[in-house]
Amino acid sequence: MKTGISRLRLTNFRSYAELDLSFGSEGKPVALFGPNGAGKTNVLEAISYLTAGRGLRSAKLSDVARRVGEDVYPLWSVVADLYSPFGEHRIGTGMVAGAERRQMRIDGKSTTHQADLADVFRCLWLTPAQDRLFCGDPNARRRFLDRIVQAFDPLHANRLSDYQATLKQWLCLLREGRWDNAWLSGLEQQLVENGIAIAASRLDIVGRLGGYLTVTEDPSFPAAEIQLTGLLEQALLTQSAVMVEDTFMGHLKNARKICAEGGNLTGPHTSDFIVIHKQQNRSADMCSTGEQKALLLSIILAEMRAQMAEQGKCPVLLLDEVAAHLDSRRRNTLFEILLTRPAQVFMTTTDQRIFSDFTGQIDQFDVEEKQEITKVA
Ligand SMILES: Nc1ncnc2c1ncn2[C@@H]1O[C@H](COP(=O)(O)OP(=O)(O)OP(=O)(O)O)[C@@H](O)[C@H]1O
Ligand SMILES: [Mg+2]
Repeated sequence: MKTGISRLRLTNFRSYAELDLSFGSEGKPVALFGPNGAGKTNVLEAISYLTAGRGLRSAKLSDVARRVGEDVYPLWSVVADLYSPFGEHRIGTGMVAGAERRQMRIDGKSTTHQADLADVFRCLWLTPAQDRLFCGDPNARRRFLDRIVQAFDPLHANRLSDYQATLKQWLCLLREGRWDNAWLSGLEQQLVENGIAIAASRLDIVGRLGGYLTVTEDPSFPAAEIQLTGLLEQALLTQSAVMVEDTFMGHLKNARKICAEGGNLTGPHTSDFIVIHKQQNRSADMCSTGEQKALLLSIILAEMRAQMAEQGKCPVLLLDEVAAHLDSRRRNTLFEILLTRPAQVFMTTTDQRIFSDFTGQIDQFDVEEKQEITKVA
């Protein structure tokens, strides 16, 4: 039995006042097609909210609530019926009256534990915004990396948010000229502890993922290598954690003056990574747009295999604008691979014809501008 969503219900989510979609429970890939602005990505985004975090658009919660002119409907919800070899669950999320944060429910019970969520539902996504991941903003690249790490190390997200909060406080003290040595040293100790743990976890997970990335399922999705370029990640390759702790502590002390004058600190919050296209022995940012997309898909497919092998659970995959930058041969190879996954895949496109060779194998839904979605094949 595959893992997937048999029914998805949205209320006041983005463009949808109400939506109720049934997908069966065979785990067939789902394709949503329709014109620009019809509401395809909104459906994928709703599914992405069934995990912790800010969803596939990294949106503000207030942006997700349905708006019609000046009217906002703040109480939105996403509810999914799930099936997997481990059983069935109903999982839901949304805003309830009086709450500031979005709520999560599993089988009717509230939860805030990411591990509980990951136990019943996981998903990965690729969006057109990530098509330039290898050449674009390093922050987006780091977020991409950290999501991979979080799937294997649930404590990683907490460490990252603690590190960011401590860093903010440390910079604030320095920039406001409040040189309280004991206070600064205490914050530096926390930055060192969390910083080393973050870097070590990234190294560990990237190393493990590397094993899956060297095996290609098809040459269309090339073997790749990920190299971390962060200060601590590099140091941990050759030095013990204790030595790197001392080095980072010294680095923080030295950076006090520079940061007080408005300069920036380097550390795990500025780490980056490089992906190497193995067959071509070329870094991803030098590859063509289609090759970069294929590399991203290689990473996502490897991550699915790694989660399945190491944790026994396969994540649902969300591929927004699945056809973008891929030639027809690569596209068809991708669909062939996706059909064999143990978890459901949701895809969007503006061009239904790309699925013409897969009638009966991929469930196709017509998303119309009037916010109605109908199964057509
Ligand atoms: N909070 C909101 N309330 C109401 N409508 C919204 C909200 N946020 C976004 N929309 C609208 O939802 C519509 C559908 O957006 P969506 O991104 O899902 O389209 P799409 O089908 O993926 O289009 P494309 O092919 O261009 O990617 C858009 O017209 C968008 O402006
Ligand atoms: Mg879209």
